[in-house]
Formats: sequence, structure tokens, C-alpha cells
Amino acid sequence: MGLRTYIRENFILDIKPYKPKNLRKPERVLDIVSAWKGLEMIIEDIIEQFHLPRKRCIEFGVEFGYSTVVFSNYFGSVTGVDTFEGDEHTVNKNEHFEETSRRLVAYPNIRLVKSDYKDWIVTDQQRYNLAHVDIVHNYKETYECGLWAAQHSDCTIFHDTESFPAVREAVKDIAKATGQTLYNYPEHYGLGILVDTKSLRKKAR
Ligand SMILES: C[S@@+](CC[C@H](N)C(=O)[O-])C[C@H]1O[C@@H](n2cnc3c(N)ncnc32)[C@H](O)[C@@H]1O
Repeated sequence: MGLRTYIRENFILDIKPYKPKNLRKPERVLDIVSAWKGLEMIIEDIIEQFHLPRKRCIEFGVEFGYSTVVFSNYFGSVTGVDTFEGDEHTVNKNEHFEETSRRLVAYPNIRLVKSDYKDWIVTDQQRYNLAHVDIVHNYKETYECGLWAAQHSDCTIFHDTESFPAVREAVKDIAKATGQTLYNYPEHYGLGILVDTKSLRKKAR
């Protein structure tokens, strides 16, 4: 393979480092263990930097609800989709929908749905202001779920772009397929941020 082909196939030349301007802790945060911890400090900054409306947020990969509760601080409604059965990369593989629902009952703007993302995306036609993808960290699933999310949201964020090369590859390919702008925040295992600048520009007019 020539150098030019290698560069074309392996890099997105304009992958931008995400630089938060203001780190701010949300008012409500769950006191539980999560690899997502730390990212709550940049969510409001992302909303502000990209001028995201604060109506609707969807999350794929709730687990015990850490990130879900963070989003509930900022959006009118948060839909959290998960099998609640864990996956090959999670430590917990016990079913825990009822238990997690009870934990999140204090947050009335959160709606939890026990579903595989595959079943959810064929029925939902809504648009969201923010989508979060944090499911099993394989290429195929991240690409399929993430492409749907990017096509239905102003901004889509992906956890684990630093710790799982398959996630990073999927996010880069979704950026290529959609023409959206890709940022990466390297802290806390990495957060890929895809922004639909065209749709946001239209909304601002
Ligand atoms: C890394 S955990 C999510 C962590 C969570 N965002 C947090 O803040 O701690 C991944 C979750 O994705 C869920 N998951 C994996 N594959 C899925 C699929 N195909 N559809 C729906 N949920 C899935 C698992 O059940 C697991 O709860």
C-alpha cells in the first residue's frame, strides 16, 4: 500500500482535539462506580460550544445510570435504551432493569427502555439534540447504532474512543459517511464528538 493510500484510509485529516472552555459539575450526579466518571465535567461545555437546544437526549448504553443522570441535568427529556443484561465488555452480566429503574425514579425526565438498540432504531423517527453511544465496544454495533444516532441528532458522543480502537474506527467511519465534524476528547477513556454543523446552522437561521 502506498503512503497516500495508507493516509487516506487510516486518518481523518480534520479530526479536531476537543478543548473544553469551562469545566462544570452538574448539580445531580449518582454516587456509583462508572468508567464514565469525569466526563460529566464537559457536558454543559459541549452543549454551549455547539449551541445545542436542550429538548431531547437519547442514550444507548445506560448500565447503572451514571451518564443518564448527568444528561438529565441539561435536557427536558432523556431516553435511555439498554438491554440491561451487560455485554462481553462489562463486568456485570446480570439482568438489572428493575433495580436500575428504581435507582432512577427520582429523575422524572428520564425514561428507561429495556431494548436492544437494533429493535429501537427501526421504530424511532424522532430527532434529538444529543445522542450518546456507549454500548458493546465492537466496530459493527458501534457503527450501526452510531450511524443511526448521527442521522437523528444534532450532536452524537461516543465513549471509549481511546480505550477501544474499534470504537475509534467506527466513529471515524461515521464521520466520513455523514460528513459531520469530528472532535475527540482524550480524557476518561476518550469521548468522540460528532457535530451535525449543517443541521445546527439551519436551526440558527
Ligand atoms: C459500558 S456500559 C454503559 C455505561 C454507562 N453509560 C455509564 O455511564 O456507566 C454498556 C452498556 O451497553 C449495554 N448494551 C450492550 N450492547 C447493547 C445493545 N446491543 N443494545 C442495547 N444495549 C446494549 C450493556 O447492557 C451495558 O449496560
